[in-house]
Amino acid sequence: MTNIAVFASGNGSNAVNLVKAFNAGTRIHVALCLTDRENAPVIEKMKELGVETIYFPRNVWKENPQAILEALRHRDIKVIALAGFLCFLNSEIVDAYEGRILNIHPSLLPAYGGKGMHGANVHKAVIEAGETKSGATVHVVTNEIDAGPIVVQREVAVLPDDTPESLEAKVHEVEYEIFPEAVVKTVATLTPPALPKSVDDVWAEALGVPNNVPKAPEVPDQPQSPTPQQQTPFQQQQTPFQQQQTPFQQQHRVEDAVRNHTNSMPPTYLVWSIVMTILCCTVPGIVAIIYSAQVSSKFYQGDIQGAQRASQRAEIWIIVSFVVGVLSNTLYLPLAIAGAF
Ligand code: GAR
Repeated sequence: MTNIAVFASGNGSNAVNLVKAFNAGTRIHVALCLTDRENAPVIEKMKELGVETIYFPRNVWKENPQAILEALRHRDIKVIALAGFLCFLNSEIVDAYEGRILNIHPSLLPAYGGKGMHGANVHKAVIEAGETKSGATVHVVTNEIDAGPIVVQREVAVLPDDTPESLEAKVHEVEYEIFPEAVVKTVATLTPPALPKSVDDVWAEALGVPNNVPKAPEVPDQPQSPTPQQQTPFQQQQTPFQQQQTPFQQQHRVEDAVRNHTNSMPPTYLVWSIVMTILCCTVPGIVAIIYSAQVSSKFYQGDIQGAQRASQRAEIWIIVSFVVGVLSNTLYLPLAIAGAF
């Protein structure tokens, strides 16, 4: 499970959308909402959705970023989503979560970004300038306003009869699509401290492709980067496997890969279990088959220890089946021969 936090100052329709997108059955969980406005409507909405919400006054955001960081660390927050958050983020917070804070902005950045450009102001400016297209952008937050690397951007058409309000409604619709996408993309690129295998190996493993089949086609060379942590998530290369998957599948695959990459699957002994069931003693053979089947299922659920236990038990029951089978045959044969005479 990856915990994320949303920061919001206003209505919070994007915050609500993220909670609805993730908190019912995905591996991403909106675990916390922080706000800088005591009476922000988002507070009530988060309460209804059961998301813990804390109000920190503006002076805390400005002068005591450690209090904010402490609240985030305490809840193991990995990614932050600014969903209509209108307070300037202290650089200590930006630095502590470098590459992991996303902001949604209601224009096609870099156009109509920067100081004073937020919410309705943006839509008014776009209409007044006679633009024929606008849109929404999710970008990584840096210490410069609205200037970090773009993660996802989507356009909407501006029609001659559009008003700032109608444009805002259209932009909100695309925001509800792209913000969850950008969060998934970011979570999917959170890397473990060290990957002992190549990215393609990890993907192949996560997809359940056996080691001995040909790997995916080579990805063109990318500029070398010393460690995964030094890259922003969007500088990291995509494999062809990733391109075939939905963002949610990608996230699950990465988490599975990360869980499994240091372990190879223990032996299932399935063939031996079946052989023993047929040739030796049936009941312990069937028990061995059940344990054999559990090895791969537990392994791919990430329960490595469970898979190892199942493998050991399958082995034990194979031996039991063999021993009981041999003993019963050696006892039965003389009796059968004696009975025949
Ligand atoms: C959104 O449109 C978001 O893009 C914008 O505020 C609105 C919040 O709506 N953010 C900015 O302007 C940041 N510069 P919401 O409260 O209904 O999610």
